Amino acid sequence: MRPTVAPYPTARFRRLRRTPALRALTRETHLSVDDLIWPVFVTGGKGQRVPVASMPGVERLSVDLVVKAAKKARDLGIPAICIFPYTQKSLRTEDCKEAWSPDNLSNQAIRAIKDAVPEIAVMTDVALDPYNANGHDGIVRNGEIVNDETVDALVKMALAQADAGADIIGPSDMMDGRIGAIRNALEADGRHNVALLSYTAKYASAFYGPFRDAVGASGALKGDKKTYQMDPANSDEALRLVERDLTEGADMVMVKPGMPYLDICRRVKDTFGVPTFAYQVSGEYAMIVAASQNGWVDGEYVMVESLQAFKRAGCDGILTYFAPRVAKLLNL
Ligand code: PBG
Repeated sequence: MRPTVAPYPTARFRRLRRTPALRALTRETHLSVDDLIWPVFVTGGKGQRVPVASMPGVERLSVDLVVKAAKKARDLGIPAICIFPYTQKSLRTEDCKEAWSPDNLSNQAIRAIKDAVPEIAVMTDVALDPYNANGHDGIVRNGEIVNDETVDALVKMALAQADAGADIIGPSDMMDGRIGAIRNALEADGRHNVALLSYTAKYASAFYGPFRDAVGASGALKGDKKTYQMDPANSDEALRLVERDLTEGADMVMVKPGMPYLDICRRVKDTFGVPTFAYQVSGEYAMIVAASQNGWVDGEYVMVESLQAFKRAGCDGILTYFAPRVAKLLNL
């Protein structure tokens, strides 16, 4: 006999929320230190620690201190560190040739870290903006960001990073064809083991503002990056880009920024099932820290909650400036 009246309430979801133990048992996703990539900013000199005004708690570090940071990351169990250079002004030129100098700041940092802490994976950024007189990710000719000439420059840059010992190369420039060109060049050079994490779905975003301060590119940047970074209104295009980058030889893909683009993360993971990363970018970090410093949100809780969102959206890992702070919490 079918009951004529459903029991009330029909389902008691609160049963499994009642205690920390029950919540732990039924948790669907897990944030772990294994998921973290820590982006760090490198500056010249020795013993240098320069705060980034728009990113409270983040500092540009000279190479010796970046090595210390890498040791700290290793001790916390963070698997990877990602290097971004603050290049001195005199080395920012129209031809961007500092980008592939074997001794540029970024390559010095890679070598120093791989020497001292070989077990941590070192990721790099491939784009010309830290070396470009005009702050763009590509070479500018008559006001236009030229694609193919930029790709040639990016290939030289990537090879120099591989030479320095980079484990993961991260092209963030959004030129067409750069993944294939870099992959072919690495293979031709016998560097079969260098992984490519493509900044595949990178949007033309205002959330990068504090980062451009951190690498000193904001003052220089003329115009915007909309002719090469994606339109924030698009989603299908991201899937076509992922397909293209995988075909060209990417091992992993990235969605960037993070929190405003969680729908893209989920679509990418569901469609391709490949290692998918999100970048919780500088502006996301700055918003959380600023609100927390004002006492408007519980900073620690929001930090963890914001990172759990990426796991829920299907991401395998997250680049986040919170990496050491959240690692400490997760290791408790
Ligand atoms: C450079 C690059 C940017 C970021 C990572 N690599 C900035 C940009 O494209 O303007 C942004 C990272 C962040 O905001 O945290 N191509």
